[in-house]
Amino acid sequence: MNSRLVYLDHNATTPLHPLVKNSLIQELDSHFGNPSSIHWAGRKAKNLIRNARQNLSELFSVSPLELIFTSGASESNNTVIQTLFLNLKNRTEYICSAIEHPSVLKTMQHIESLGALVHRIPVSREGQLDLEFYQNVLSEKTALVSVMLANNETGNLFPIKRMAEMAHEKGALFHTDAVQGLGKIDVNLKDLGVDYASFSAHKFYALKGSGLLYCKKSSPQFPFLFGGAQERSRRGGTENVLGIMTFGLMAKMKKEITEESLRLEKLRDHMQQQILKLIPNTRVTGSSKNRLPNTLSLVIDGIDGETLLMNLDIKGFAVSTGAACSSGNPEPSPVLLAMGLSRAEAQGSLRVSLGWQNTEDEINDFIKELVLSVQRLRLIDTEFQKDFEL
Ligand SMILES: Cc1ncc(COP(=O)(O)O)c(C=O)c1O
Repeated sequence: MNSRLVYLDHNATTPLHPLVKNSLIQELDSHFGNPSSIHWAGRKAKNLIRNARQNLSELFSVSPLELIFTSGASESNNTVIQTLFLNLKNRTEYICSAIEHPSVLKTMQHIESLGALVHRIPVSREGQLDLEFYQNVLSEKTALVSVMLANNETGNLFPIKRMAEMAHEKGALFHTDAVQGLGKIDVNLKDLGVDYASFSAHKFYALKGSGLLYCKKSSPQFPFLFGGAQERSRRGGTENVLGIMTFGLMAKMKKEITEESLRLEKLRDHMQQQILKLIPNTRVTGSSKNRLPNTLSLVIDGIDGETLLMNLDIKGFAVSTGAACSSGNPEPSPVLLAMGLSRAEAQGSLRVSLGWQNTEDEINDFIKELVLSVQRLRLIDTEFQKDFEL
């Protein structure tokens, strides 16, 4: 194993920001009170939560009362879809895109098995949603539309503001899984005009196990987890105080988000240009125009993504072949298949997602190693084919 470790998988999860690490050391002893207790220890923990809520509400331009802390985006997504299905009886149809995260797709499948009619918006090879299909299936029967802000694999961005307006014209509610946008682009919920949005702290340089659900004040909201009066009785369970505190700290970094996005976009574009130049038969997956600034998703012909990933891992580079949640699963990425890529193309996919700690040197080293690894694997493949033909 190479002694130098380079992490290039920030759409899967992010390392802790140095400021977050420092604050954890400072608060480790003092955060322990139960925020529901009224004594000094409880008040201290409650204050940490209050500050985090305030910071996050400013980042998203919404009211602090519209934010509910959860255990992560999977819980936030489940909460919106399942509670609306259970409680809104006069509308029975649901819409999502065909390339949502499994925490939306599988929840939609679940409510479908319980009687909901679910429409899945197809997506083109260029990563664009079929808006004509969307317009046609939207109706007065639609309860909820759930479409992600940005795709975790290709980084492609979707026209959420326009889609939310279209849903509202039919009286339907709109949810966006905004996990991948946070920390990479400006996410102004007021401007997007959605009813609900999901976020995850661990995709934003904060601790795992903390997430957020935005619920617009005027939109229906129902608890998913029943229990104590936490989160104004909208989400029972003692709060993950440290996780929430780290999430809130990151929310103060509006300036860094803008600066880093510009820097990473340049690095990503440099990497893309070099890879396409140096490795024949390689192409970008989805749209290369309308996407997150940190993400590069590629198909490299004749290469098995898993094998390439393992080769790069031995050299110290952490990348992904698709969504991290499906790694270890030999099936090609459902997102790429839904975009119309063949199984062989999808098997050769590689996702590189940059983050705030990546440097230009790291990217140049990665490009060199990727070129060598692909050459090696293609050579082995050619030799193997020759042996096979003999
Ligand atoms: C788009 C998207 N939504 C939801 C999730 C799930 O987030 P969490 O790990 O906080 O449950 C992820 C994580 O991979 C994601 O990329």
